[in-house]
Amino acid sequence: MIIDTHCHLDDSKFDSDLEDVIKRAQENGVEKFIIPGADPKTIDKAVSIAESHNNIWFAVGVHPYDAQEYSPDFIEKYITHNKCVAVGECGLDYYRLPKDSKMADEIKELQKDVFISQIKLADKYAKPLIVHIREASQDSKELLMKYSGNRGGVLHCYNANRELLKFSEKGFYYGIGGVLTFKNAKKLVETFPLIPKDRLLVETDSPYLTPHPYRGKRNEPAYCRLVIEKMAELSDMQIDELEKICEENTEKLFALSSYRD
Ligand code: NI
Repeated sequence: MIIDTHCHLDDSKFDSDLEDVIKRAQENGVEKFIIPGADPKTIDKAVSIAESHNNIWFAVGVHPYDAQEYSPDFIEKYITHNKCVAVGECGLDYYRLPKDSKMADEIKELQKDVFISQIKLADKYAKPLIVHIREASQDSKELLMKYSGNRGGVLHCYNANRELLKFSEKGFYYGIGGVLTFKNAKKLVETFPLIPKDRLLVETDSPYLTPHPYRGKRNEPAYCRLVIEKMAELSDMQIDELEKICEENTEKLFALSSYRD
């Protein structure tokens, strides 16, 4: 069984045909789904999707781009819901910083405060973290090393590098998605074989980051299969072995079967 550990099924791009998307996923062996929290405006939609499907779970979090909207109360309002499996996505993203260095520093500080608060809440409620890191490996590493507890999490990172590999020692997993199939994904393709197999998870980040050969179109969980096929091509494991180990890893991290409707 394949589990899409990161798909934004609450995105408006799925409003008109969500049930068809889920059906196509199942036809491709993708049978469970985790909706990460990203946009506070759509969390209630994520909750209702999770409540109406016994194979869908959600996480609550505030993305670094929305750091201004963050409040700890928002996380605590949802974290004890019986389908809420994690805190995230949260993290640091320095990709779109303004040129003005004073403004850039202020945004960095805000992102860090918001990230630290979410790391601490995850620890308090013993939930794993779903971490988004972009062009901020060093700062992310420092904060996670300093504040995260024993529960670990997943690095939802499309620019994996050797720096981030050190997190496996601290209980972190690596979410591998469509970027692995991109023709220009040299860094991730090089890093992938170095990731311990018992730390691999599959994700799509639907509706974004659509794998080759569908780049440019809407991404959907069915395409997890293309990611697994690429993983097999780059490793010494067969497709069914990778499916199995990713499923086991997902259960170890998120303990999906312990949540009841
Ligand atoms: Ni995402």
